Amino acid sequence: MPLIRFLRFLYVSLVPALVVVSSVEGLASTVAPGRERILFDAGWRFALGHATDRAKDFQHATGYFSYLAKTGYGDGAAAAAFDDRGWRLVDLPHDWAVEVPFDARGSHSHGYKAVGPGFPESSVGWYRKRFTIPESDLGRRIRIEFDGVYRAARVFVNGFYVGEEPSGYMAASYDVSDYLNYGGENVVAVRVDASMEEGWYYEGAGIYRHVWLLKTDPVHVAQFGTWVRTEVEGAVARLRIETTVVSEAREAAVVALVHEVFDPEGRPVARTAAPADASLAAGARSVREHELSVAAPQLWSLETPRLYRLETTVLRDGHPVDRYTTPFGIRTIHFDPDRGFFLNGERVTIKGTNNHQDHAGIGVALPDAMQEFRLRALQAMGSNTYRTSHHPPTPELLDACDRLGMLVINEARLQGINDVHLRPLEQLIRRDRNHPSVILWSLGNEEWAIEGNIKGARITTTMQDFARRLDPTRRTTVAISGGWGGTSTTVDVAGVNYIKQARVDEQHRLFPQQIILGTEETTTQGTRGIYVDDRARCHLAPVEDGSSGGNAEIGWQFYAARPWAAGVVYWTGFDYRGESTPFGWPAVSSQFGILDTCGFPKDGFFYLKSWWTDETVLHVFPHWNWPGREGETIEVRAHSNCEEVELFLNDVSLGRQRMPVNGHLAWPVRYAPGALVARGFRGGREIAVARVETTGPAAAVSLAPDRATIAADGRDVSVLTVAVRDASGRLVPTAGQRVDFALSGPGRIIGVGNGDPSCHEPDVYVGSVSTAPLGAWTPPEAAVTEGLITFEATFDAPVVAPGGSATLLLNALGPRQTVWLNGRVLLRDAPPDQARVELRLADLALQSTGNVLRIEAARFPEWAARESVRLVHPAAWRMATPAPSWSRSVFNGLAQVIVQSSGGAGEIVVTASSEGLAAARVVVQARDDAR
Ligand code: GAL
Repeated sequence: MPLIRFLRFLYVSLVPALVVVSSVEGLASTVAPGRERILFDAGWRFALGHATDRAKDFQHATGYFSYLAKTGYGDGAAAAAFDDRGWRLVDLPHDWAVEVPFDARGSHSHGYKAVGPGFPESSVGWYRKRFTIPESDLGRRIRIEFDGVYRAARVFVNGFYVGEEPSGYMAASYDVSDYLNYGGENVVAVRVDASMEEGWYYEGAGIYRHVWLLKTDPVHVAQFGTWVRTEVEGAVARLRIETTVVSEAREAAVVALVHEVFDPEGRPVARTAAPADASLAAGARSVREHELSVAAPQLWSLETPRLYRLETTVLRDGHPVDRYTTPFGIRTIHFDPDRGFFLNGERVTIKGTNNHQDHAGIGVALPDAMQEFRLRALQAMGSNTYRTSHHPPTPELLDACDRLGMLVINEARLQGINDVHLRPLEQLIRRDRNHPSVILWSLGNEEWAIEGNIKGARITTTMQDFARRLDPTRRTTVAISGGWGGTSTTVDVAGVNYIKQARVDEQHRLFPQQIILGTEETTTQGTRGIYVDDRARCHLAPVEDGSSGGNAEIGWQFYAARPWAAGVVYWTGFDYRGESTPFGWPAVSSQFGILDTCGFPKDGFFYLKSWWTDETVLHVFPHWNWPGREGETIEVRAHSNCEEVELFLNDVSLGRQRMPVNGHLAWPVRYAPGALVARGFRGGREIAVARVETTGPAAAVSLAPDRATIAADGRDVSVLTVAVRDASGRLVPTAGQRVDFALSGPGRIIGVGNGDPSCHEPDVYVGSVSTAPLGAWTPPEAAVTEGLITFEATFDAPVVAPGGSATLLLNALGPRQTVWLNGRVLLRDAPPDQARVELRLADLALQSTGNVLRIEAARFPEWAARESVRLVHPAAWRMATPAPSWSRSVFNGLAQVIVQSSGGAGEIVVTASSEGLAAARVVVQARDDAR
């Protein structure tokens, strides 16, 4: 075909026909060949195994020939034939650590959950999922990809051991093409072992990030295989596109690439002129470079985070076989040792927070929409930077940062120079270097063994060189605590963890070429809504000089006075599970956050909002419910950016004061119930009023969703605020009532929380499933080929819990089997797919005692099938007990309920009731056309 005709043909017809996108499970099967990336989150079976007792670990790794001895010999729950029908059904993301109780013997750093060291019975989790692969997929390369599993995930497909990833923060991609049953059923089994901790904070347990099924042509773009570098020159952006193409084909191919760029409105704005053909040998990889330019680029910025899209088409011998989408942004970043950080040529002060990845109610298993919920809460106080302390984040966090305009300091987990350290760093950089939000690679945090000595300098230099080779467009940092003089002599951007541990000015003088950034600084350690310490309950009034020294005000004043530094990142945005210092048990969460674990702001939020935003802020605290303290002096404070603030108690002025820049105001006030009113002035004109009133007793519960409409996609969430109010609708700031929740419609509650760092109420309520095998069973020897297999069991009708169910699970013992129940034929000569049935108790007409089940089966002709029979029990009860109903106490008046779409469109109705209080009802619409 002449080139011009070929290009037209490609542009007009084939490229649109190749629109292959990741989608909700099961929907993307229409497009072939090409890339399909199918979300693989729904319909997993889950059960706890055992970390030290193999018998309780479903006999895994006990085989004479283990999975390490012979391929395809995954044993126990790793075997294809294993019967998992008695396990609980779960959808991902899933964190089983949330489900197990708090326990004083648990790990302090991980929030006293009965998981990890000392809890072998609840530290191993097994996941299994059955899936079919159509016959027409034969010849494609098929992979199962995990975005992150905590941790040590050992993966089997149809009993074949396909790999293992020790870290809880790495992505893993397994080629399963040759192990699959095309046109048949397959099973993936994952053994997850959370016995060992990686970090010193809550890390969860389980498959807590997405899983994908990826189907491609053998010639395709590699994983994380594109990189778009942008440079802005006047009114034009130059794009340098690097693409890694791999061939898993058996023959060489002529491979060409076509790149097309779409602007934020989806209009095509640039494309490569002619596909340059080049041969790609069988099994080879090639890296190809292209350049494109975009006129009048719409820059990615904090205010207008505009995203472009690169669509890459791979042509194999002239046919389009892959289409790969790369979102990217066009922006410039630049650090200057004397002037700080610049985005698109404009100075931006880094106003950041550090965060771990857990949230109230759900642990580390965050639906994607929760990323946005959390980022918006941080943005509401003017924060523009997020440090992913201390590990690579989930990809959806970075997607949300790109969309919302939040800068990211993207952190690797462990410093070092070998494969175990550099491989994760390489993955982090390759995975994330297209994100415009990412401005720095963080190579380490407080590595006390090395940071103050020559080893720290050497290791940092090696890692820094390595990172620079992978991405010369970004700088690197290491967060340093007490040990200055090692890492700090060589690091590109010196991360200061706590000014009290560093001589920042001296460092700047001695290393004038170095950038300085406050990577951690204390805000105000304390419990939301608490103003008087109650150490028995681990409740802390705001600490002026917290465990790492200082507070938000000291930190901000320090960095605001040093504009040559790039800014400051506070420890932390949100409270997180674990590291409950200064307490131990019974505190289970940290209290460093500016927001609590639910995202309810503490008072310090308003200090930062006052000085980090241009919005008028006037916030007065504490609350004014202090019965019994009449006449006592209570300090009342205001956070505000008004020039002057006047405080009144019950209409009597307590004085007008001038607000110091980057400061706060305080008044000693003799307590009398009533109304505290603050009036804020700018230029002598009143511009803001804030009221804090003594409330009446609790009278009602209220419910407010953050989003009243969500997508009916089985994934989207609405976050409901539960509040206890008085008869006038005022939040009762000391309320602690227990509130019960009920839900109807196409939704489910996935977690509840209240921000109380020592609350041990359940975060989730899950049903339980157990199995009870019928009768005794001696598995037949695989070597025996003749005669019938018989099984007989006498049993009583099972007792079912209220609301629960009992299901009889039968297994196939041979190619044909007949089953009798109480002398009646249930199945006659049934082949395996019909013999492996589930029968509901209600359909079985059992006697209360003395039922007899008999099975007679021929023997399988193949050895492997006869061996599989040894793995299953012929018949068992699956006993299901429903989840208890959901409830949670409010803490200082507030709690949170996270509601998720369960798939269909319609009204999700949530009610909240509490004894003696008026109940609340709220409707969240789940719509097919919502985002
Ligand atoms: C820092 C550390 C954080 C956290 C914090 C608690 O030293 O980097 O991960 O442990 O202390 O104060």
